[in-house]
Amino acid sequence: MIQVAVLGYGTVGSGVVEVIEKNKEEINKKSGEELNIKYILDLRDFPGDPYEDKVVHDVNRILDDPQVQIVCETMGGLRPAYDFTKRALLAGKSVCTSNKELVAAHGPELIRIAHENKCNYLFEASVGGGIPIIRPLNYSLTAEKIDAITGILNGTTNYILSKMEKEGADFADVLAKAQEKGYAEKNPEADVEGHDACRKIAILSCLMSGKNVRAENIYTEGITGITATDFIYARAMGKTIKLLGKSVNGEDGFYAMVAPFLISREHPLYMVNGVFNAVCVHGNMLGDSMYYGRGAGKLPTASAVVSDVVDCARHIGKVIMCFWDDQEVALADMERMRRRFFVRVDAKREREAIAAFGSVSVVEADVSGEFAFVTNEMSEKEFNEKAEAAGIISRIRIEE
Ligand code: NDP
Ligand code: HSE
Repeated sequence: MIQVAVLGYGTVGSGVVEVIEKNKEEINKKSGEELNIKYILDLRDFPGDPYEDKVVHDVNRILDDPQVQIVCETMGGLRPAYDFTKRALLAGKSVCTSNKELVAAHGPELIRIAHENKCNYLFEASVGGGIPIIRPLNYSLTAEKIDAITGILNGTTNYILSKMEKEGADFADVLAKAQEKGYAEKNPEADVEGHDACRKIAILSCLMSGKNVRAENIYTEGITGITATDFIYARAMGKTIKLLGKSVNGEDGFYAMVAPFLISREHPLYMVNGVFNAVCVHGNMLGDSMYYGRGAGKLPTASAVVSDVVDCARHIGKVIMCFWDDQEVALADMERMRRRFFVRVDAKREREAIAAFGSVSVVEADVSGEFAFVTNEMSEKEFNEKAEAAGIISRIRIEE
């Protein structure tokens, strides 16, 4: 029997316990041994919960118990999750986590410590909730040179944007619903300001390059500037607005960013709505492949954590390879990236806008007092210079 401990009995942690219990026959068969939840660490007690007798408040009960071989870290945050994880790995206990903040910040160090101690640090649930994306990158796509990854990487913001588009719903009301459903981070600013998607594209960029891409070096813009009026224009253009994480490893260098983009009906990410996420991966031999599923929520995320538990159970005393070393990737200057932009200006500034941007495609929509248009392709730097001269209300990048 393999003894498992869960750190943090919240949305994901309680899901991990539920998945292991509900699917125990399947899971035990696939693990090759029976899994047993021995401890659940949390700050609170859970009177009346079927697992209340497993709840402990002192992490040393778990870390000092040699019977515990696998730990699920579903607490979130950097501290004390970092210390607990490091101590578990140093004691030879594999750790499976949904904590992308910790993975993005300390991934290479924790993987190295795990391997030095003949155990594993696995993080399938850290990107895309229940979508298998880490394992495909680590195992299935090893014959590829991956040159681009584009994804909808945050369930909360995709849920908000979808509701704004389809129901004209108010931003704050939909965010409250996403929180109720357990999709949002403890501090939902991490979702709506794009930091969560940034951590996820950082993790994917690391697996794409095999080196370290630091989240704090990635240009990040959230969805708080997106309004109902933007969706009126998007509809008029046959497009929608999605928060995308993008990473490109091309001839001009390695670019990574997170921002809202206008995408057309033909784009593979157009139909990804609600809490669903999707990741498009472009490899030099395979071409395009896409991974789709629920990007947040209790059971989908827990399922991904438990898939890692099964992998650890199958590899007790053995290392599962993960190509991510701590050599830093220098990101290319994002000001050089070229694209078209959708721009809104006050109707009174139409002439200044045309003088600054030259030939543009005007966007007609049912909005009064504004002049809206799509620019020709230009670099971010050129755009910023022209936008300053034209005094714009807002701009959204266009994903081709
Ligand atoms: P929750 O806040 O629901 O759960 C975290 C749990 O950990 C809470 O019960 C919390 O207790 C407990 N906890 C916090 N600090 C400690 C501590 N020092 N010792 C013991 N217990 C502690 O968060 P989620 O389950 O939503 O998220 C957990 C992690 O999974 C995060 O990293 C998140 O980003 C990630 N994640 C979440 C997804 C989701 O859909 N919710 C999807 C994918 C990843 P208390 O409530 O008392 O603070
Ligand atoms: N808050 C995150 C999201 C949880 O909404 O995508 C899943 O990582």
